Amino acid sequence: MHVVELKQISKTYHLDAIDVPALVDIDLGVRPDCFTVISGASGSGKTTLLNVIGCIDLPDRGELIVAGEPVQKLSDDALSDFRARHIGFVFQNFNLLPVLTAYENIEYPLLLSRTPAPERKRRVEAMLDAVGLSDRAKNYPGQLSGGQRQRVAIARALAPSPKLVLADEPTANLDSVTGAAIIDLMRAMQRELHVSFVFSSHDPKVLAAADDAVMIRDGRIERIERREERAAA
Ligand SMILES: Nc1ncnc2c1ncn2[C@@H]1O[C@H](COP(=O)(O)OP(=O)(O)O)[C@@H](O)[C@H]1O
Ligand SMILES: [Mg+2]
Repeated sequence: MHVVELKQISKTYHLDAIDVPALVDIDLGVRPDCFTVISGASGSGKTTLLNVIGCIDLPDRGELIVAGEPVQKLSDDALSDFRARHIGFVFQNFNLLPVLTAYENIEYPLLLSRTPAPERKRRVEAMLDAVGLSDRAKNYPGQLSGGQRQRVAIARALAPSPKLVLADEPTANLDSVTGAAIIDLMRAMQRELHVSFVFSSHDPKVLAAADDAVMIRDGRIERIERREERAAA
């Protein structure tokens, strides 16, 4: 059973009179408990693909099943609820709320999912510890380095115990040493928590850490390399 199943997914943007086909006939099964990387040049459709998987963007055609749920059949409210419970996001520019502390940023999705206060506190403290930022709980994002901000974002994504974490070029705005540490952290947390991670990147270090690698080009899947083949290569 795949954690995400895309069948013949297509999406075209309409910009003035021009049609921009961002995704074309995408067939993809994402394996559970794996670190999957979407790799492709700028403009190849990585962000669009992650936004479709994350139910942020709707495809024009095709079928999308996430965690066994045919999500296109859900109402707007049910979809928001589904997303809050099952999907965590990590963005290129961290997307933390500047007026909230590290602690409060991590707590935020737990408030949305109405997690009771004692459980909230337990989850936030465990996540701060897991990303090595227990001593930065009261810092605002402006008082943290880029790498620390991305650690907070990872903790926030994982706090509600989602089935799936989507990360759109999470190391693109970090220097290479910090980026490598972030990849190691995400890889370790993926293994420990048995979450499914889907990443987009054109960073070779991210590709090397992948179980499965999906190469896309001009909105089409060019090639998929599964772990077994990668291990043998
Ligand atoms: N909101 C939008 N409106 C029009 N075209 C878009 C929009 N978002 C993305 N595109 C186009 O869709 C294609 C895929 O973009 P994107 O998914 O952002 O690729 P990547 O993340 O790999 O750089 C590109 O040609 C891009 O210019
Ligand atoms: Mg992108």
